[in-house]
Amino acid sequence: MKYDADSTKQLNQLTQQLLNNHSEDSSEIKAHALRNVIQFHEYRYYVLNDPLISDSEYDALFKQLEQLEETFPELVTPDSPTQRVSSDMTEDFPSVPHLSPMLSLDNSYNADDLKDFDKQVRKLTGLQTGETINYTVEPKFDGGTIVLVYEDDMLVRAATRGNGTLGEDITNNARAIRSIPLKASFSQKHIARVELRGEAVIRKSSFHDINKKREEEGKNLFANPRNAATGGLRVKDSKDVTSRGLEAFVFQISHAEDAQGRSVLTELGSHHGNIEWLNNLGFKVPQSERAFCKNIDEVIEFCTKWEARREAYDYEIDGMVVKVDDPQLQEMCGATSHHPRWAIAFKFKAKQATSRLLQVEYQVGKTGAITPVAKIEPVPLAGVTVSSISLHNEDFITSKDIRINDVLLVERAGDVIPYVVKVMEDIRDGDEKPIVFPQNCPSCNSRLMRSDGEAAWRCVNTLCPAQSLQKMIHHVSKDGMDIDGFGKSYVEKFKELGWLHNIADIYKLDYNAISQLEGFGEKSAQNLKKAIDMAKQNPIKKLLQSLSIHHLGKKASSLIAAQVDHILDLAQWTVEDYVEIDEIGPVLAQNMVNFFAEETNIELLRDMESQGVNLKQTQEDKPIEVVKDHPLSGKTILFTGALTIMTRADAQKAAAALGAKNISAVSSNLDILVAGEKAGSKLKKAQALGTVDIISEADFVQLLES
Ligand code: IVH
Repeated sequence: MKYDADSTKQLNQLTQQLLNNHSEDSSEIKAHALRNVIQFHEYRYYVLNDPLISDSEYDALFKQLEQLEETFPELVTPDSPTQRVSSDMTEDFPSVPHLSPMLSLDNSYNADDLKDFDKQVRKLTGLQTGETINYTVEPKFDGGTIVLVYEDDMLVRAATRGNGTLGEDITNNARAIRSIPLKASFSQKHIARVELRGEAVIRKSSFHDINKKREEEGKNLFANPRNAATGGLRVKDSKDVTSRGLEAFVFQISHAEDAQGRSVLTELGSHHGNIEWLNNLGFKVPQSERAFCKNIDEVIEFCTKWEARREAYDYEIDGMVVKVDDPQLQEMCGATSHHPRWAIAFKFKAKQATSRLLQVEYQVGKTGAITPVAKIEPVPLAGVTVSSISLHNEDFITSKDIRINDVLLVERAGDVIPYVVKVMEDIRDGDEKPIVFPQNCPSCNSRLMRSDGEAAWRCVNTLCPAQSLQKMIHHVSKDGMDIDGFGKSYVEKFKELGWLHNIADIYKLDYNAISQLEGFGEKSAQNLKKAIDMAKQNPIKKLLQSLSIHHLGKKASSLIAAQVDHILDLAQWTVEDYVEIDEIGPVLAQNMVNFFAEETNIELLRDMESQGVNLKQTQEDKPIEVVKDHPLSGKTILFTGALTIMTRADAQKAAAALGAKNISAVSSNLDILVAGEKAGSKLKKAQALGTVDIISEADFVQLLES
């Protein structure tokens, strides 16, 4: 341990003083103090993986030190944290040198900071107010940095950022990321060797699925997409990269040389032009999320717009990066030892905060799982006020040693759901009390059970009122029967009125009574009836999915529905019957058998059938017959331009039925491009790649018939 309890306490106090700017000390003492606390927090963050302050507090300390050193350059010491870039290295991968050292970015937090940046760029380049400086603004992706090297158009190396000079060699893992072309025609511009920088990321939507799967497999959950991405770059088996859905954005050409080893970087042209070109070569680049701005006011407008959009965007971003677009101006700006002076990060409002845990409440889910929910002192976090946070399960509480009255470090990551990063153990004052997990269901008081290998305690009482409520909410939702306009609040209201006890009751509602309810009326009651009548005709795959059977998702519901004429046929199925279907494991199989062995469930389904709910296999439930040994089988295909013989949807369906996979972007993974009339950029890109089989719509139709 590098710091003992006493020094930890002292450094923590010093941190608070520095953050509150209370010190009256001389600049020299202050710089010394800042260096010490920053080094301490870097150690907590990078070595112990156990930070004591939030990212924005760290940034604030760093900025103070930078400003102090800028005003008094004589205070800079060689070991100052500003004099090196931080490291993400481990000993598991061999290290490789980057072709050009990778610096960090300076940070800005508001419009004034950006205006100061513009002023500084003008000073460094000698451009007057009124003379144009173009900026490119892109998201600051919050994933894992990747550095790619191509030689003679082939991907030869990929590395993490490491300490900025040396990175970890992760070539094999990068090769498994589909959005990284293994081959790209840099030779078009007479480039023999090139180094690109970018970020490996995981979509928030895939992150959800990954964690859901990990939860089902009893594995530890990732705290956020960034951890899943950086971890994904370092997996031992490259196959795991593919299953994690890693993608890579490219945002900079950092080195380019010709066959004679001469640098051609500044000859390439503007930053935004380079990014467009990389896109044409098959790289994933920021597109609609990138802006070309003619002045700093446009930059500010775009940054502000994206701060508001941040949550809706499917990738985690913690800010925007503003870059001087002209490479000549970039060169005139130069760099400090820490960051280039031609670029700056515009950081969004903090996503981390601390707050005290007041109490824990326990919620009963649709499959009976008990979820502990932390009630905390309300705290603003990235634009919303957070007062409740899921603690997932008992193991989560135990592994983080969370106690009532603890101060928690809270983060909003991955999506809008807040997450407890850790307990601030160092500021415990002895008033903390252990959390006692209940042994009985908070709703029906029956004894909770926990099966082997499962993280959750469950209420197994099929008549538990809290569980029935959640089952009904799920039943009407998009992932269930998708009854238009029937939301959670209706279910709660109708249940309160004594109209709903189980999902079959949903089909017995009295619309006359509904129309008399306050806020309803004839029209909305009729609309609800229409939506419910429509849902009655749903294919049985939707009905299956709406039953809240543990682990039964969309895919498995379709696979099972494809095998039965009537849903109640499943009452005869054994575990062996289920596991014969590829992709269905023994755990789900057992849950299915248990569900259909329960007489109340069979009665429920019969009751629904008597109300007109469809229980028979429909055309939509039938599997698409996939033809093997067809020239399209196993190929990836993309349709572009206007099709005249058939609609695009029909063409895609026909291709899928013959075993092809429809994809949406041109990359080195694409096998066939069907180019219709007026095909544009996708066609050009496929031609540039040179590896794609480009055919006409008529050729495609002929292929269908072959
Ligand atoms: S430009 C001087 N552009 O932010 C370095 N960086 O140090 C040039 N990052 O970890 C980097 N999105 O991986 C740049 N659009 C973007 C970025 C970006 C994320 C990361 C980068 C590095 C840190 C900057």
